[in-house]
Amino acid sequence: MRFYLNVDHVATVRQARRTDEPDPVRAAVLAELAGVDGITVHLREDRRHIQDRDVRLLMQIVRTGVNLELAVASDILSLACELRPMQVTVVPENREEITTEGGLDLSGDSKRAEISGAIRSLEDSGIRTALFVDPDEESIRFSAELGVDAVELHTGEYANSWRVKPEEQIKRLSRAAALARKLELAVHAGHGLTYENVSPVAAIHEIEELNIGHSIISRSVLVGMDTAVREMSEILMRVRSKA
Ligand code: PXP
Repeated sequence: MRFYLNVDHVATVRQARRTDEPDPVRAAVLAELAGVDGITVHLREDRRHIQDRDVRLLMQIVRTGVNLELAVASDILSLACELRPMQVTVVPENREEITTEGGLDLSGDSKRAEISGAIRSLEDSGIRTALFVDPDEESIRFSAELGVDAVELHTGEYANSWRVKPEEQIKRLSRAAALARKLELAVHAGHGLTYENVSPVAAIHEIEELNIGHSIISRSVLVGMDTAVREMSEILMRVRSKA
């Protein structure tokens, strides 16, 4: 399983002072040296954390791969086609939200047409494409129809419920992952995953990539990036060696 670190929250600390530290690009280098398989960043339309400069530099410096998260219908799509990261994950964006709140809404024809157009231009630029979706049948079937390479299953609801009632959400994620594989989609997952709750998700064998940010960046403030990344890698390796 690939383990991608989302470094947005390093930029969040920097933007709190609108200064030049801490630098998410430096964090990405440390994370790679500690063994992550890729670096994820979300360039939001409001540029609240990651800036264009970060994405441009990451594209030059990252040696694993960059997974760029973006909302459709934005100038960021053109930037992605210009920079050609290894992967783009299309996510919904809402200005009022604290973080990405749900998967993409693929229910209306106009939304699907918009996403479909974006996927075609990303593919024409040679970029692997993923859609961030809720773990439900309809979203996965729509994603397969749109011809993307992968779905990233939103684990937020599981993360919110794991202390009290994780089984239901794990079953939901497992069913969604199995359907996605049946439809020949690669399966990724992420959002709200922590050292404490990641294991049951990592044990779903169809999932080939996890995107984790906040929990690891939070721990890295206390123990350093190297230790924070290695501790997560150890959990993932332990789970997968049993699965
Ligand atoms: N995957 C997607 C699509 C996201 O939008 C985010 C948050 O930016 C993550 C994964 C990582 O979530 P977290 O920071 O809660 O680990």
